[in-house]
Amino acid sequence: MKIAILSNGPGNYSTKRLKEVAKIRGHEVEVVRYRDCYASIEKNNPTVSYKGKDLGRFDVIIPRIASYMTKYGTAIVRQLEMQGIYTVSSSIAIARSRDKLRSMQLFSKAGVSMPKTVFSRNSADIDDLLEKLGGAPVIIKLARGTHGNGVVLADTKKAAKSVLQAFYLQNEDGTSILIQEFVKESAGVDIRAFIVGGRVVASMKRQSLDDDFRSNLHKGGEGTKVKLTDEERKMCVKAARAMGLNVAGVDFMRSERGPLILEVNASPGFGIEKVTGRDVATPIIEYIEQNAKRRPKKDKIGA
Ligand SMILES: Nc1ncnc2c1ncn2[C@@H]1O[C@H](COP(=O)(O)OP(=O)(O)O)[C@@H](O)[C@H]1O
Ligand SMILES: [Mg+2]
Repeated sequence: MKIAILSNGPGNYSTKRLKEVAKIRGHEVEVVRYRDCYASIEKNNPTVSYKGKDLGRFDVIIPRIASYMTKYGTAIVRQLEMQGIYTVSSSIAIARSRDKLRSMQLFSKAGVSMPKTVFSRNSADIDDLLEKLGGAPVIIKLARGTHGNGVVLADTKKAAKSVLQAFYLQNEDGTSILIQEFVKESAGVDIRAFIVGGRVVASMKRQSLDDDFRSNLHKGGEGTKVKLTDEERKMCVKAARAMGLNVAGVDFMRSERGPLILEVNASPGFGIEKVTGRDVATPIIEYIEQNAKRRPKKDKIGA
């Protein structure tokens, strides 16, 4: 098959691994920087150009869209979907996973457990919202934050109020801020499950090395291999399915009431290979080999 990896970082470990495995398995593969793609839309003729000429015909695309370029990247993916090209992650699934509020609503609908979450557009509701969460401490997070930036732990009601007021000042629209129950029993630790085609192919625990409550590797967290329970595995697979993602990095916390899903990443990093010794690139290429020829299933998620 002729495969395009849509990635702005051809030198990234993840991109290199996908390229290497695709080649080994006999495919033709090219890395396409989607930020340098441009598109033309007219009746029945959606085209994508790259480096001054038509992108050309690919059988499959593997989108590795960075969160800072979600809108542009998903628009290019959508344009290629319109040409009938198979994509391992659909543009709509990538877009929905980038919005934590939308994700939480979909998890709720799919019966996936999560930290209790509230949102509102009025700072006048703060007292009531905090009460719904059982009081401080609470987590306040931006719906479109990544790498732990935009996640705040408010220890007291007073702190929560002032943080929220500051956030509301920046964003009039209440859908960009979530207030969440603080999962204190495993603060500073979360688990990443790497899912391909409804199966967990690798899992690691991430632990913050200082007193930060955030375990993001970008915040200096450390990853170690971890084994999931059956319940956890099922929950992670369900969360990826709720997003409509075939390839996903599902993050959850172990709590007193079982696994609580935090988020699902549409372009999970492959650093998990180094931590766990598991190959995640091969299952992705195998998944494509098994599914690219079939008609893509219609997205029935409805949000
Ligand atoms: N409700 C919560 N309770 C306790 N810790 C949390 C909670 N939500 C997030 N965290 C911590 O903060 C980190 C970042 O939060 P997350 O929602 O994954 O945002 P990001 O997209 O920035 O990674 C998580 O990995 C976890 O360690
Ligand atoms: Mg995270």
